[in-house]
Amino acid sequence: MHTNPRSRYLRDTAPELPRPGLVWDCLNGGTNRPDDRIMFNKLLIHLPRLRQDAKANTQFRHLAVLHLLSRGIRQFLDLGSGVPVWKRPLHNVITDADPDARILYVDHDEVVCERSRERIGTTASALALHANVTKPEGVFGSQEFADLFDPSQPLAILATNVFQHVSEADSPRRLLAAYRAECVPGSALVIAHPTAYDLTPSQTEPVTRLHREGDYPYIFRTTDEITALFEGYQILPGGLLSDQPEPRAVPIARWDTPAHRADPTLSALAHLFYGGVGILRRPEPDPEGGTQP
Ligand SMILES: C[S@@+](CC[C@H](N)C(=O)[O-])C[C@H]1O[C@@H](n2cnc3c(N)ncnc32)[C@H](O)[C@@H]1O
Repeated sequence: MHTNPRSRYLRDTAPELPRPGLVWDCLNGGTNRPDDRIMFNKLLIHLPRLRQDAKANTQFRHLAVLHLLSRGIRQFLDLGSGVPVWKRPLHNVITDADPDARILYVDHDEVVCERSRERIGTTASALALHANVTKPEGVFGSQEFADLFDPSQPLAILATNVFQHVSEADSPRRLLAAYRAECVPGSALVIAHPTAYDLTPSQTEPVTRLHREGDYPYIFRTTDEITALFEGYQILPGGLLSDQPEPRAVPIARWDTPAHRADPTLSALAHLFYGGVGILRRPEPDPEGGTQP
């Protein structure tokens, strides 16, 4: 079992501490504990469009998995999953599209995992794993991973709205390379990550401070930094790519899909989350005769 020993949220089970996974669930209209709602209201002061950004993130997750299902991917590893959205949890989205699809929700907050298990209920298509995303071996070596997935088949890694909680010391890029190393070509990576382009320091600093009070990092990254997380993957065309010479992370609310085009309110937002969907390339042929990693 892996937990972040630095996190006060995880060490201290005092009920008055807000927990980011439950705050996010509260934003998505799920659980509504007073301490999480207070944190959520504090965040709203500094990020007044957070509700719309949360909606855009949820829609992006749904659209991305539906797109990947249409490409034949049936295995989904949801890193820092939070609690599955109660209105339309991702395990229902994927199994409605393909009854054989599977999803493993991974979170290092035990309370979040308990809530996730309640929402999963008896379905065989989903499990919740209590593990830290900074320890990929704990994820790939888990019984839950073995029970759900066939490692010879493509795996989609969902990393939405979680790597802001992973500091440079833990190197998100190195971690994602470790996840990538366990995946066969044709696998996928989905990222949504907060940026600060539409925010002033008077907004970002309190958000970072509020999370730091619980020993959670909260790091806003740039488009270049987010694009770099897709190393080894071919980023699929997204909403703004037609304007840009190279595929790169884009505001997820503009990820170019019929549903987003049909809902202009999403595209009109200023954007907190940037990201995209990448497909794992085949290794380059090695001039010496083998293949390179
Ligand atoms: C803001 S919620 C996002 C939930 C979901 N990924 C989404 O996009 O809607 C972030 C979640 O990541 C979890 N988390 C943060 N750091 C983590 C880590 N190092 N390992 C596992 N889970 C982590 C938190 O507990 C929380 O449930």
